[in-house]
Amino acid sequence: MLRQARKSDATAVHALLWACRADIPLTDKFIDDWYREWVEQHCKRRAVWVVEREGEIAGAMVMQAHEIFYLVVSLAHRRLGIAQTLIDQAKRYAVNKRWNTLKAKANPGNNPVQCLLRKEGFHQDRTESDLKWNVFYWKR
Ligand SMILES: CC(C)(COP(=O)(O)OP(=O)(O)OC[C@H]1O[C@@H](n2cnc3c(N)ncnc32)[C@H](O)[C@@H]1OP(=O)(O)O)[C@@H](O)C(=O)NCCC(=O)NCCS
Repeated sequence: MLRQARKSDATAVHALLWACRADIPLTDKFIDDWYREWVEQHCKRRAVWVVEREGEIAGAMVMQAHEIFYLVVSLAHRRLGIAQTLIDQAKRYAVNKRWNTLKAKANPGNNPVQCLLRKEGFHQDRTESDLKWNVFYWKR
């Protein structure tokens, strides 16, 4: 089931992000209270979408304005189309908001997410990309 995260989901969303820290990548400080609060605030602001499978949060997407900021799927639920479900939601949200673009950044070494973004119609912006981040845009 795809839904917006609630405040009560913040701990599970934070844990899923933390479990994926090497791929995103996340700062070691992400385990600290400040970042737990950051996740909770985004859940409260309705900026987090989750996919639930049998009562467990299998995937999560954090939006910051028109940027897909974090996108994570638990190891046990990968290659089942969950990330694509979340990206489809981001596209619907962008269309509803009358935004012309969605942005996403990927670590250059993160092949799975770059394949996913290209499959979903995102294109890399070479001028904005640097050694640390490849920047992708989807245009409607
Ligand atoms: C990247 C990630 C979100 C993909 O989630 P997912 O639910 O497994 O992806 P989906 O099943 O919806 O989409 C599958 C598509 O994504 C791409 N993809 C996913 N895993 C891949 C892999 N290991 N290698 C290459 N392409 C991959 C492919 O394009 C694939 O399409 P295909 O099955 O037709 O080849 C997931 O691997 C993940 O959580 N990784 C760790 C966190 C991360 O890197 N997040 C991105 C930065 S914030």
